[in-house]
Amino acid sequence: MSQQVQGVVAPGKNEPVRIETIVIPDPGPGEAVVKIQACGVCHTDLHYKQGGINDDYPFLLGHEASGVVESVGDGVTDVAPGDFVILNWRAVCGSCRACLRGRPWYCFNTHNAERKMTLLAGGTELSPALGIGAFAEKTLVAAGQCTKVDPAVAPAVAGLLGCGVMAGIGAAINTGDVGRGDSVAVIGCGGVGDAAIVGSRLAGAARIIAVDIDDRKLATAKTMGATHTVNSRTTDPVEAIRELTGGFGADVVIEAVGRPETYEQAFYARDLAGTVVLVGVPTPEMRLELPLLDVFGRGGSLKSSWYGDCLPSRDFPMLIDLHQQGRIDLGAFVTETIGLGDVEKAFARMHEGDVLRSVVVF
Ligand code: APR
Ligand code: ZN
Ligand code: ZN
Repeated sequence: MSQQVQGVVAPGKNEPVRIETIVIPDPGPGEAVVKIQACGVCHTDLHYKQGGINDDYPFLLGHEASGVVESVGDGVTDVAPGDFVILNWRAVCGSCRACLRGRPWYCFNTHNAERKMTLLAGGTELSPALGIGAFAEKTLVAAGQCTKVDPAVAPAVAGLLGCGVMAGIGAAINTGDVGRGDSVAVIGCGGVGDAAIVGSRLAGAARIIAVDIDDRKLATAKTMGATHTVNSRTTDPVEAIRELTGGFGADVVIEAVGRPETYEQAFYARDLAGTVVLVGVPTPEMRLELPLLDVFGRGGSLKSSWYGDCLPSRDFPMLIDLHQQGRIDLGAFVTETIGLGDVEKAFARMHEGDVLRSVVVF
């Protein structure tokens, strides 16, 4: 039997979000209904609202979430009702070329639930943000989007691994392959950049240089594990990073802003044959111009990090373990917990740079 719950919907381009009654169908084959316990407010939710992703309004927002599986459809064996899970937006298919080559984090056939959630009023089909839609009491997903983790961890903390925090940690440990003794610079110290700092520290980086244009962000970056900070509004970050690394540049530079000028800083702030990781997400009109001779002559690797190149089944339980051992503090990313009705206010606070993460708790 379908059920009705409250959820946060973006009705049209730049229109304020509102709480609507939504209809959740029973899970079809391979699907699960999850009772949401917490869901973080991410930039991507704001981008959906602003029309920056596509025009498939109305959107059911929210995608950084944890909760408890309520029911599952036919053929679901990996999770069962009662399991505490973190939702992910890249449920790998297991059969595409990337999956078959043993690189499932590059899966190009990730899937979502096929049954549709709808608005009670008018029956309009909803487009769930990143195939999740978790600013709602319950949501319908593909079972592969659920990763079971230890229920002892606070839901508000666990949910953050579902997007930004995983992207940042993964940019360092998976994509950047930061190793013991490496020097790392992180440009842009919001939630994603700070998570890259946490990941770099976890991997054993000797020197972690945080770069931002906001001193408040740099102060937080220090508490996350940055050994040095550079305000790039007042100091040339490329020179500063070179000075802090014996004149060479950092082994790995992680760009967590998503802009051409910060990418260029990252490109020149690394040592010869060093690595640049782009985890910040650019917008379609952005262009990059670099001397091709520098791209050749400086060597090394220029990588992008999608979702931290994570494999949820491998990385979520591992990071929850490390959190519970006290080796990383995922709780530091939760700036505030809010109610379902506060998402619009949280967007404003995010825009002002006041928060790492506001998390809706149910
Ligand atoms: N140089 C350095 N830092 C900058 C610059 C700049 N030119 N412009 C902005 N920043 C800093 C901001 O001050 C802020 O601390 O970058 C940080 C961005 O943080 P958030 O806005 O909190 O964004 P976050 O959630 O960390 O995401 C960063 O990754 O997933 C993507 O879409 C996301 O592109 C975004 C990026
Ligand atoms: Zn695949
Ligand atoms: Zn997100």
